[in-house]
Formats: sequence, C-alpha cells, structure tokens
Amino acid sequence: MERTRVNYDYQLTKTLALLRNPGLLLASTKANGQSNVMTIGWGSVGVMWARPVFVVMVRPSRYTYEFIEESQAFTVNVPSEAMRSFVGVCGTRSGRDLDKFAAYHVATTPGQMVPAVTIDDCPMVYECRVAHFNDLIPANLRRDIEEASYGGRDYHRFYYGEILGAYAAADY
Ligand SMILES: Cc1cc2nc3c(=O)[nH]c(=O)nc-3n(C[C@H](O)[C@H](O)[C@H](O)COP(=O)(O)O)c2cc1C
Repeated sequence: MERTRVNYDYQLTKTLALLRNPGLLLASTKANGQSNVMTIGWGSVGVMWARPVFVVMVRPSRYTYEFIEESQAFTVNVPSEAMRSFVGVCGTRSGRDLDKFAAYHVATTPGQMVPAVTIDDCPMVYECRVAHFNDLIPANLRRDIEEASYGGRDYHRFYYGEILGAYAAADY
C-alpha cells in the first residue's frame, strides 16, 4: 500500500479507537532478518523529551520481547478492516510456534527509519526507536489493576519508542 509521511498525530483519534478494538500490530525484526508480529491493545501516543513517542507494553513472556530487546526498535501498524482475523491470530498465536507473516501471506517491507519491518497492507504505520524502557513496579500499581491484569506475574516492560516516522495512505 502506498503511504506518505504524515505528522505523528495524523488521525490519532482513529488510531486510538483501533487500538481498543481490534488492536494494532506491533512488528519487530532481529539482526538476522527474522521478523515477528503481535497484537497490542494497550499503548499511548504523546510527547516526551520534546519528541513524539509511542509507548507500548510488552510482557516478558512474549516472543516479541526478545526481538525488541535485541533491536531496540519496533513498528506499530494500523490494520485495515480486512485484516481483522489476522489481528486475532496475532493476539493468540506466538511466533515461537508459527511464522505469522508467512503462514498468512502477509507481506512486509523494511522500515525507512528503523530496523524493523512494516506491514504492507496497513493504511498507517509508526516507525519507532526505543528511547527508554522500564519495568512496571508492582508495589506502585493500584491493587485492583494488579489483580485484574497480572495476578502477581508477567509484569509488562514499557518501551518508549520515539516516532521517527509516521506514514499513512491517502484514504486513511
Ligand atoms: C486484543 C489484544 C490485545 C493485546 N495486547 C497486548 C499488549 O498490549 N501487550 C502484550 O504483551 N500482549 C498483548 N496481547 C497478547 C499478545 O498479542 C499475544 O500473547 C501474542 O500471541 C504474542 O505473540 P508473540 O509471542 O509472537 O510475541 C494482546 C492480545 C490481544 C488479543
């Protein structure tokens, strides 16, 4: 899909609605060229250190975790309506067991600004380089949220990705 460079906040309301439902696609690539993708439902777009930032939350149990640890980069890809079922697969199947891109014939292209692939059929993508990361501090988390989301294990790592490029299709 043809995309042109846009501001990081282009159609942000739409992107945030899709983050909630069905989710966005977080893609990452290792130095050996292997790529992986997973669905994210939680995240934040804003301004930090005077830079546009996309914060994503990744549990250490995810295969994606080792990709971002290695590359310190990721892309966030906004799925088209036609990709809904793929978003479901990417939120339930791990790349440890299945090459999701290959199995579903989903084409990717290397990012222009970061060492991570972007998904060709997505109408908007964010290319992000990790500026900072930190682990959730359980003792600092409100009790009801801890119980609802963690139950004492697999606390998220937060990756603050500086948005080095945002690209959108003309009809997004
Ligand atoms: C709608 C939805 C949203 C999700 N959001 C997140 C998220 O924000 N962070 C996370 O670590 N896992 C999230 N997950 C779970 C991962 O997408 C899922 O465990 C995936 O299989 C991990 O793939 P991987 O092991 O190939 O990295 C979500 C799943 C769904 C269905």
